[in-house]
Amino acid sequence: MLKELMIADITVGSRHRKDMGSLTSLAESIRQEGLLQPIGVTEELQLVFGERRLRATRDILKKQTILARIVDVTSILAGEYAENEIRKDFTPSERVAIAKAIERKVGNRQGQRTDKELRGKIPEVAPGTRTRETAAEKAGFGNDKTYRQAAKVVENGTPKLIQAMDDGRVSISAAAILAGADADEQEAVLELDEKAILQAAKEIRARQAEKRAEHQDSKTVKPQTRPDKERKMATRLIHGDCRRELKKLPDKSVDLILTDPPYPEIEREYGRLTEVEWHDLMKTVVTEGRRILKPTGSMVVILQPNFEKVGQMRLWLWEFVAWAGREWNLVQDVYWWSHDAMPLSGTNRKQGLLRQSVKMCVWLGPATCFRNQDNVLWLPSDDIFAERKSDSAMRTSRSGRNYRNSKIAETAEDRGGSTPFNLIPVAAGGSASANNSHPATTPYDVAAWWVKYLLPQGGVLLDCFAGSGTMLCAGLDFGASQVIGIEQHKKYIEIAEKRILEG
Ligand SMILES: C[S@@+](CC[C@H](N)C(=O)[O-])C[C@H]1O[C@@H](n2cnc3c(N)ncnc32)[C@H](O)[C@@H]1O
Repeated sequence: MLKELMIADITVGSRHRKDMGSLTSLAESIRQEGLLQPIGVTEELQLVFGERRLRATRDILKKQTILARIVDVTSILAGEYAENEIRKDFTPSERVAIAKAIERKVGNRQGQRTDKELRGKIPEVAPGTRTRETAAEKAGFGNDKTYRQAAKVVENGTPKLIQAMDDGRVSISAAAILAGADADEQEAVLELDEKAILQAAKEIRARQAEKRAEHQDSKTVKPQTRPDKERKMATRLIHGDCRRELKKLPDKSVDLILTDPPYPEIEREYGRLTEVEWHDLMKTVVTEGRRILKPTGSMVVILQPNFEKVGQMRLWLWEFVAWAGREWNLVQDVYWWSHDAMPLSGTNRKQGLLRQSVKMCVWLGPATCFRNQDNVLWLPSDDIFAERKSDSAMRTSRSGRNYRNSKIAETAEDRGGSTPFNLIPVAAGGSASANNSHPATTPYDVAAWWVKYLLPQGGVLLDCFAGSGTMLCAGLDFGASQVIGIEQHKKYIEIAEKRILEG
């Protein structure tokens, strides 16, 4: 329905598009040719699209009225318009505005008292269906991905590119790629013929993929090669019992404590602790560790659950987590998944248990402790960014959960990589290297992952159960100014010394 409306009656909400471009030439064309396309407003006279036209008419032409089309968002949301009708009546950029108006409407409706609302006309969004998907569908976009591509064009495209998409001269997907280029390039490409535009879009996409990889690479801390002397100077190995030695370290002097302590009730060449002894030991370590850490520092304790007997777990780990979490703060529950773990006792067919393959990395510290996510992002595969048709299909993960590729791509693009899970997959890799006779070493990749994530460049790292020095090696490789290791057995200190020098 078209109506001449008083401009003063129309509300312009907060808009996404901040750059209004030149309004003078638009006003001039409206003066000469009239308003070729009306603006769009909701039933409540809220502007849906045509802000530039509205401003040019009001601010430059000084008119008080404007021709508007009433976009009945409620009816569209209620499915009273067929998708293809919307598609025929409105251009892609107008449909983006309609979808956004739908999102606002659905968003406003959520959280309201349903008993006070007139529910008849607006169907509830199916449980589990995301608002954006509903908006995309109702606004005549085949899927959420196309909606996001069109929205990208509206937000980042020059007026000329938006026009080209609206006229159908450039497809929505190609326009979305072009919208990633700077304004001059967008304009230059639009001078070409259709085939050349497509070719240019492909080249821009390849360039963007390259840039993403470079961007991620530039953010990631690389292992450093330091001369032996420097490694030695940056290392302090303390031979002794950490219960005593920790007490000698000054307050607020360490950035990260990363440690893999002994576990209770396990026979090792370095001894066997009862559960009670183990809790006592760890209480000292946590209390002293907290004192020694700087205010932004945190502590990661790697622990593996074990059994009392087949089918009955020991509970020390969870008791410790509950105690330390209450006493201090559990930042996040994180697990190392040793995905090459062997099926051991209890997992045979008769006893029927599952293969034990996760160790808990008990991460303690203030909620705001230092972390550098950029350093541990996964490089997203090119597949995620591919624009092939099949990509819009649902991707099913091993867990059976469905994801939309486009959503993953969007998040990955924003951050320069894929956010890792709180399950760190690192193969334990069998026994330690030939020159390391320590019976229970931590895999270097687990140590390096945590160092990259939690140690600030130039920070101080401490391991109070240093063993053969894996954590210390990772610290030296990834920017620690100092690494401190406490170990009760001289024999392991010697191994650590050697490994630190070997790099
Ligand atoms: C699981 S191992 C650590 C392995 C180490 N992350 C590595 O990769 O070699 C635990 C180490 O803690 C040491 N340890 C046990 N109790 C200790 C204590 N009270 N003070 C210092 N070291 C201790 C053991 O001798 C053992 O070398």
